[in-house]
Amino acid sequence: TNIHLLGVPLEEGAGRRGCIMGPDAYRTAGLAEELAALGHNVTDLGDAQRVDTGPIETEHNHLKFLPEVAGWTRSLHDHAFALAGADTLPIYLGGDHALALGTVTGHVAAAAQMGRPQYVLWLDAHSDFNTPASSPSGNIHGMPMAFACGLDGFPDLLGKPLPAVLDPQKLCMMGLRSVDREERELLQSSGVQAHDMRAIDEHGVARILRPFLDEVSQANGLLHVSLDVDFIEPEIAPAVGTTVPGGATFREAHLIMEMLHDSGLVTSLDLVELNPFLDERGRTARLMVDLTASLFGRRVLDRFTTSY
Ligand code: ARG
Ligand code: MN
Ligand code: MN
Ligand code: MN
Repeated sequence: TNIHLLGVPLEEGAGRRGCIMGPDAYRTAGLAEELAALGHNVTDLGDAQRVDTGPIETEHNHLKFLPEVAGWTRSLHDHAFALAGADTLPIYLGGDHALALGTVTGHVAAAAQMGRPQYVLWLDAHSDFNTPASSPSGNIHGMPMAFACGLDGFPDLLGKPLPAVLDPQKLCMMGLRSVDREERELLQSSGVQAHDMRAIDEHGVARILRPFLDEVSQANGLLHVSLDVDFIEPEIAPAVGTTVPGGATFREAHLIMEMLHDSGLVTSLDLVELNPFLDERGRTARLMVDLTASLFGRRVLDRFTTSY
């Protein structure tokens, strides 16, 4: 596979600083080298740049760093749209989760042009489904999926209405354990395929993920995966500003990545919310690199020898 890495040194969407160092931490942890060792053809495009949008009109004055996030959204939307049309699988190295306002909308717009359905797998402790009106914090990294699904109340970032919206029914979330009160209403009334940690506890990740992958496959869909560091249990992934206890285990996270690899369906990937300032000797960056390697084919044994 041709893989393009695009760094996104964006931190203004999050409530604390440090995600700006994320892209370089992935480089230091050897992401490109690990993927190349698995036989992929890897190109590091370096870091994307924010464009200058000028002032953005809004009645929501509590939106933090709106012009900065708006500039990133426009830049990343265009990058993602272009990369989706090329013969490559882009990995966006965050940066906080506000980058998905651009990456997801760019891929959705490209899919619409290709006449194929775009699906999103959101691996996160949070649903990031706040609108400007529902957000208790004003941090825009808590809003990207509401924006991509075309919910009301957002300022004009990419034209109104959006060039293409994500169908909430084609959005599957796993790992949820922190959802705000109003956000929860929005999430549940929109028809998102939302799975909380309790669902993982009861059924296991495989039983949840397999039907979704079958759906994507049967629809001949494109699949964008957005992996937030806080999806994982903070004991093993401390380098994130919004830790929530009770996350996915090492085994659960790797199994998801391995199933995604076997499916052959993934067409783009975000790695988000890594805050190297909070890491312990690079262990979270390294874990994220290892999970990405599992998604790109690293395995212990070949699967075809035994049927269980
Ligand atoms: N729901 C909270 C908020 O809206 C937390 C969002 C955390 N999002 C994230 N990408 N870490 O502020
Ligand atoms: Mn840098
Ligand atoms: Mn998130
Ligand atoms: Mn999160």
